[in-house]
Amino acid sequence: MAMEMQSGGKMMGFLVILLVLFIEMAAPTSASRNSFSTQILEVQNQLKLLNKPAVKSIKSPDGDIIDCIKLSHQPAFDHPMLKNHKIQMTPNFHPEGVFGENKVASKMKPGSSRNVTQMWHLNGRCPEGTIPIRRTRKDDLLRASSIKAFGKKRHKTIPQPKSADPDLITQSGHQHAIAYVDEEKYYGAKATINVWEPKIQQPNEFSLSQIWILGGSFGEDLNSIEAGWQVSPDLYGDNHTRLFTYWTSDAYQATGCYNLLCSGFIQINNEIAMGASIYPVSSYHDSQYDISLLVWKDPKEGNWWLQFGNSYVLGYWPAFLFSYLSDSASMIEWGGEVVNSESDGQHTSTQMGSGHFPKEGFGKSSYFKNIQIVDGSNNLRVPKDIATFTEQSNCYDVQTGKGGNWGSYFYYGGPGRNANCP
Ligand SMILES: *[C@@H]1O[C@H](CO)[C@@H](O)[C@H](O)[C@H]1NC(C)=O
Ligand SMILES: *[C@@H]1O[C@H](CO)[C@@H](O)[C@H](O)[C@H]1NC(C)=O
Repeated sequence: MAMEMQSGGKMMGFLVILLVLFIEMAAPTSASRNSFSTQILEVQNQLKLLNKPAVKSIKSPDGDIIDCIKLSHQPAFDHPMLKNHKIQMTPNFHPEGVFGENKVASKMKPGSSRNVTQMWHLNGRCPEGTIPIRRTRKDDLLRASSIKAFGKKRHKTIPQPKSADPDLITQSGHQHAIAYVDEEKYYGAKATINVWEPKIQQPNEFSLSQIWILGGSFGEDLNSIEAGWQVSPDLYGDNHTRLFTYWTSDAYQATGCYNLLCSGFIQINNEIAMGASIYPVSSYHDSQYDISLLVWKDPKEGNWWLQFGNSYVLGYWPAFLFSYLSDSASMIEWGGEVVNSESDGQHTSTQMGSGHFPKEGFGKSSYFKNIQIVDGSNNLRVPKDIATFTEQSNCYDVQTGKGGNWGSYFYYGGPGRNANCP
């Protein structure tokens, strides 16, 4: 009897241990199975949110699918504050002068970079009343560190020329070669940007050339509107040069995103897709291509408008998205940025601009020309006192100049790793 009790107790103990073992072994499996199906569901929901029903879809030679979405179905209108928004089809004001429907409709001025458009145009156009949106695919989402992080900046830095601690800047792994102004209030900026396809060493790095419109100090509430071109394998899954925009009203924390990947920017144009490849791009010592970008504030409504080339008014960021920028910008920056992940303990060989230094000049080094700002009287003009900034001029450099029909300009960029930048 006593024996039986004892062995029964042992048996119980053994069973308990078995049960504990079983639970311990089973728990992680069922948890990961759960999170796996949660992830699939999340991906599906996110894709449904991002990809609105298309009127027409165009397959671009670069592999993208461009969906033509009805104007009123665009992602902006998912924003609670835009539910009853009356879409503005033309800005009230344009800093280049009288601006009516005619100017928008009458395509290009002679001498403009008219052949630079977008690769998907080779296979079709979006009808009037729609806007072209690059379709987001499952793989795009899965490359992001998380589904919430998709379309947001992973590296939250901004060129901060007058930072008290220069080490802080280089630690982040970002390198810049920029020109900037920060002496007055700004209501817009313009530049014509040479377009290249810089080589990226690591898929988690990128190379971009852009205009930054900044409001506030470099604190937690920095406001930023950005537009330019970028090569970002992480974001797009390839090495093509793409037109992009970005905005944030809290220093890249909770608000903002690239392109139309969150609600905010209201697009009115049916010809240019954010995030789509720019075509063609420049070749070394051969054909050169550039794009003009103008960002300006409508003094009446306070919205920030974006124009591509001389005639494509793409749309606007509503004033309410911002705090500081709902008044004016305090700093404008133009130039390049790359991520240096130093994966093999050496400086990255990711290129900035053309991958060649400013001293090589036209056709070899990349440029920004006709740099202008919109001043307090809403006039476009050449800014006074342009300053420059770069963390390591042996890796990427910047050199300004002035004159002729290039107005205020600079060459920028470089190869990254080289004998002087190990
Ligand atoms: C591109 O521009 C050139 C000259 O500027 C012109 O001859 C040619 O027809 C244009 N091509 C297209 C596809 O617009
Ligand atoms: C992008 O370029 C890198 C090298 O610069 C190459 O290793 C990679 O395969 C390219 N990716 C694609 C998708 O073409």
